This record gives sequence, C-alpha cells and structure tokens, in this order.
Amino acid sequence: MSRSLVTCALPYANGPIHLGHMVEHTQGDIWVRARRMAGHEVHFVCADDAHGTPIMLRAQREGITPEQLIERSKTQHRADFADFGIAYDHYASTHTDTNRAITYQIYAALIASDHIEARPVEQFYDPNKGMFLPDRFIKGECPNCHAKDQYGDACEVCGKTYAPTDLIEPYSVISGARPVRKESLHYFVRLADFESMLRIWLHERQAAGGLQSEVVNKLDEWFADGLRSWDISRDAPYFGFEIPDAPGKYFYVWLDAPVGYLAAFRELCDRDGLAFDDFVDPAATAAAGTELVHFIGKDILYFHTLFWPAMLHGAGLRTPSAVHVHGFLTVNGTKMSKSRGTFINARTYLDHLDPDYLRYYLASMLGPTLTDIDLDMKAFEERVNSHLIGKWVNIASRCAGFVHKFFDDTLADALPVAELDIWNDAVARLRPCANLYAAREYAAAMRAIVEVADIANAYIAEKAPWLLAKDPGRRNDLRVACTLAINLFRLLTTYLKPVVPATAARAETFLGITAERFNDASALLLGRTLSTFVPLLARIDPKQIEAMLNAAKETLSTAPAPGTPPAKANAMPTQNLSAAPMPSSPESRMQDAGSFISIDDFAKLDLRIATVLACEFVDGSDKLLRFELDAGELGKRQIFSGTRAAYGEPAKLVGRKVVFIANLAPRKMRFGVSEGMILSAGSGGADLFLLDADAGAKPGMPVR
Ligand code: MSP
Ligand code: ZN
Repeated sequence: MSRSLVTCALPYANGPIHLGHMVEHTQGDIWVRARRMAGHEVHFVCADDAHGTPIMLRAQREGITPEQLIERSKTQHRADFADFGIAYDHYASTHTDTNRAITYQIYAALIASDHIEARPVEQFYDPNKGMFLPDRFIKGECPNCHAKDQYGDACEVCGKTYAPTDLIEPYSVISGARPVRKESLHYFVRLADFESMLRIWLHERQAAGGLQSEVVNKLDEWFADGLRSWDISRDAPYFGFEIPDAPGKYFYVWLDAPVGYLAAFRELCDRDGLAFDDFVDPAATAAAGTELVHFIGKDILYFHTLFWPAMLHGAGLRTPSAVHVHGFLTVNGTKMSKSRGTFINARTYLDHLDPDYLRYYLASMLGPTLTDIDLDMKAFEERVNSHLIGKWVNIASRCAGFVHKFFDDTLADALPVAELDIWNDAVARLRPCANLYAAREYAAAMRAIVEVADIANAYIAEKAPWLLAKDPGRRNDLRVACTLAINLFRLLTTYLKPVVPATAARAETFLGITAERFNDASALLLGRTLSTFVPLLARIDPKQIEAMLNAAKETLSTAPAPGTPPAKANAMPTQNLSAAPMPSSPESRMQDAGSFISIDDFAKLDLRIATVLACEFVDGSDKLLRFELDAGELGKRQIFSGTRAAYGEPAKLVGRKVVFIANLAPRKMRFGVSEGMILSAGSGGADLFLLDADAGAKPGMPVR
C-alpha cells in the first residue's frame, strides 16, 4: 500500500472555474478515487490562490476588499468542484495564518542556508497610481512592426518578444500615465545553487515515472540556458504576505502559492489527526514511504519543477515525488473563446448538463501526455450517449424488468459453465484497469470498459431475453441470462466508479452493494435481491448543449465589466530592466493581466443614446426582450437583450431613453439579427437595471 498527498494547481481567486480547470481536477480526482479503490491511502487537497496584483486591482475596481473578493470566490469554487464530484478532503486558501506560518518558515530556512540575495532592480513605475508595473500592465507601440497598444513583453501582431523598455511611447494600462524608471530593492532565490540537486531530482523522478519525458526535455533546455535567480519580492501596494524584516516588501504570489499545498494539508492533518511530518519531513517521509503528487497544466511547469523543488529542498523539506502535467482544453477545435461562446464556466455547464457526462468524455480523451484535449460538442454528445447510456446503463435497464416481473427481483443462485467463462473473461479483461488508472492511461481504461460492455450487449442480443420471456418453459434460461448481464453491469460499474461516481452510486443502490475496491467486483452476485430499478442517467439531448452554449454567450453579454480570466497562452517574463526576459519562462506570469484597458480601448466603443420605439417578448426565449430603438443619425436598430426577467412589462419601456453600444458586430440569433447591446447595471437575471440619460439627451448622441 502506498500513502500519498495529492494536489491540483490552486485556481486563482479572481476568476471563475471554467471547463479548462475541469480537465485538471477531473484527472486528479479520477486518479485519487482509483488509487483508493486499489487499496492505497490518499489525501487530496486544493486551495484558492488568493494573492497578487490582479486580485488587489480587481477588488479595488469592484469597490470591495481583497478579503471579500477571495471569500466570495472560494465559496463559488468549492461549490463548483463539489458539484462536479471532485472529492477534495480539504479546500483551503493561500491567504491564511497556516500558509503564512509555513511560508515564513521556508523563507527563514532559505535565508539561514544562504540562498537568498538582495539587489536593486530598475522597473517601470506608474507615477499616478504610485505602483510598480508588471509587464502586462504596460503597453505601447511595438518596436518591430509598430503596431499600437502592444503589451510590455511581446507583440501580439508580429509575435516578437522584447523588454518593456523597448516599447515606443509606453503607457500604464492602469492610469494611462507614462511610466518612469524607478529603482527598488528586490529579493531573489539563487536558483543556480540548486542546479545539481535539481538535475538529480529530475532524472530520478523520471526513472520512477514521476515526470514525463516531454517535461524533462523542456527542463534540459532551461538548464542549458542557465538558471537565473528568481525574483520573489514585490513592492507595496500588493496583496500578499509582507516579507519579515523588509517593510513595504511582499512575497511574490508564486512564492506562497505552492506552499498553499502544504498549508491545506496541514489544516487537514489538524482536523483529522494525521501526521503532517510523515508527508513533509524528509526523514519521516522516507521512513513512512509517503509520496507528494502534483497535477498541473503545462503552462506552470517551470514553477513546479524548478522553483518548487528547489524551495522545498533549500528549506530542508521533502521534494515532490511526481509532477503530472496535462495539456490544454480546446472547445470545438479552438482555444476557448469568449466571443465564440466557447468559454464555458463550470457553473454554466452544471446548469444544463450532468457532470458525469463531462467526466466520462474527458476520461475517454486523457492519457499521460501533454497533448491538448478537444471538447468537440458533437463527439461529446455521441460518445456519452453511445457509451454511457447505450452500452452501460442499458445493460441494467434491459434486464431489470424481467428480474422484477418473473423472479421477485432476485438473481439466480448459480451460473452454468458457458456463462462462467464469459464472466471470467470479462474479469480478466478489466483487471488491468487498476494499473491503467494509476498510469493515467484513462483513455485505454475506457476502451477496455467499452469492449467488455460490447461483450455484455452481444450476449444479451444473442440470448434475447425479450423472446425468452414469452416462453414460460424457458424461465431458467431467462434468469441465467439476466443474472450474467447484471453481473457484467456490476463489474463495469465498479471499474467506472472513479470516472462517474454519482451515476455509479445510483447503480450501486439498485444492486444493493458498495464497492470499496476494484477486487470486490470479481465475486459474482448470486441469489441476491435487487432494489427497484430507477433510470440511472438520461441521454444528452442536443438542446441541452445548445442551451449551455447560448448561456455561455449570455453570461458574457449580461456581465460586461468583470476582468478576463488569467491570460494563459504566453508565458510572461518579469519586467526587470537589468536582465533580458527569460525565454518561455513564466517568471512573473501575471494572472488576469488582460483585465485593464487603456483610454484608447474605451474610445473603440461607440456608445450612444437611443429612444425605445418598441419593446416586446420574444417567442421561444425566456431570457430575451426585442427592442426597436431610434438612434437618431444612426437610424433604427433592433437589439435582443437578456433583460426579460427584470422587465416583465416591456411595453412600459416604450419612450424611455437607453444607452447602447452601436458598433458591436451584429449577431445573428435564432430570432433575428441583434444590432448592438443595451447597457444595464446589475448581476443579471431579475437583478438588472437599464441606464437612463438626463432630460436633454437626444437619440444618437455619443456617450463618453
Ligand atoms: N494560481 C496558479 C497556480 C498556482 S499552483 C501553486 C494558476 N491558476 S490558474 O487558475 O490560472 O490555473 C490553474 C490550473 O488550471 C493550471 O494548472 C492550469 O494549467 C489549468 N488550466 C487553466 N486553463 C486551462 C485550460 N484551458 N485547459 C486545461 N487546463 C488549464 O495557474
Ligand atoms: Zn509587432
């Protein structure tokens, strides 16, 4: 039996959980559940990553404290994960006294072992806002292709990377001010001290199966470039932990974030009486044989395979046993996109579809590689309906009725040899699944499961219980056929349990069992009385998918202001004028950096006053109202707006003034073309309030 502490990367507290996150948490959760069913001890924790500039600025923008913001996110994130069946033993936050204490302890140990150095760094500073600017908060003209409004680290037009100082006419995206250079003392972890330790760790972990070869190759490239010191301090104002004996200096969010893994576990240990040191102290972990296993996405490799093991080692703590890296989720073949409506929040999905559908689909796509995973909506619908409902659930629903009608819900006491052969073959075919799960070969495990389901369905088709049932002389044959089929269903259920826990739990209620271990399924259920069969899982109706995609679009059109989610595509080197940006190193990857706009961005919006000429319900939509607007010099406009819940008597709106975006690309909807967007305040649903203009404002007037 192994003992492990397992984590997924800590989601940022400034954005919602989306389906991209769910790839990771589903992968981790399936692994944990399967390990437990193979008889191992596993503790599974996660937390919100609550610190950093974007969280501070976002709270300011919303007029709340960062503490309020992170509390709200944590409640939502926890509910999202719980509703997706992610079985965290504890879900914490990095903004806790526990995390502060362990962070300070690690920092003190790094100072004591002489791995910290301080030196002045010259950076761009926003004189209006009174703060240093991370790269993503500086924009200007690209020095290469002269495209305007490019970020401080790379040009999105020509793809060139550069230092923020290279920008022509730089400006702060926060205040629009021209940034000035300013010097400040920064603290660094001297990463080069750990080079030999890291090389040994890497190759040892690779040999043990804890690191993928693609990951090790990437790291070898980074080693070849040389390991530069890691800047771990940021100047006030910052939301984070203040550095001891360094007033006005804070730990960079990426220093205390991974420590959050340990802090979450510490809280779990205190709650459940587990021995923290058995998983953290090197001598104790060696004696106890415990493992530390991380699941992460490929964008945060650098942090988990260089900084984090170095920090742990430098502080005299155990290093990770495994860092399992996955690829990114795409939707219908492209990067999740807000404008295409394929940026789907976990909650939007849950409002329309069963979580086990997605868990199964992801499992059928996941392997132990960094390959991206596509959520193709058509394939999703077809595969779930064919495999889960058509092949698995249907075994039970085809046989349960006969067992109920003719045999008092009770299975046969014994099976003939021919049936036993089929059974033994199925058990043997599924036995390797435990190891496939352990190796994160979920797609291969799902293929084995589908094969056995096909065998079960072929058996049912051959025996044709519906024909046997017509012949009173063949009752025993009918009972044998149903007994084997239901046992095969039970075997499949046990092996599917890590993937579709909620549906499997309903199946187990019908069967009257609870499998704790994969091995439990190899003993036949004979002479057992079943519970009444209730439908376990309905087919996906394509309308549900359509409704979800529409809702994903609507979330976007009724919630104009909130910050965009973390920019994930490019790694963002720290803005540090004394050194060139580190290629592909996310040294200072900013979360939510895309959430500021410049005055030029604002100027792109053509906001206008209009008078409502007509307003009515839309047949076939319970969310929309159809507006006809008089927009003065712009003529008449038709706009569909998601304000129905807030305005139950649309006719009353006729004659009033509204503010709308006139240059939004027209959108073709089922009901007609929508030519703009009407602005309203509020969080959506019934909580929406149209904006008004004072008397004197005329239709067509611009709003600035
Ligand atoms: N807060 C950091 C992690 C700190 S861990 C000590 C962070 N947060 S994140 O919310 O941006 O991302 C959390 C995890 O979700 C990362 O592992 C990231 O790779 C993963 N994903 C985010 N978007 C994703 C997809 N579109 N697809 C798959 N996983 C992705 O990074
Ligand atoms: Zn350019």
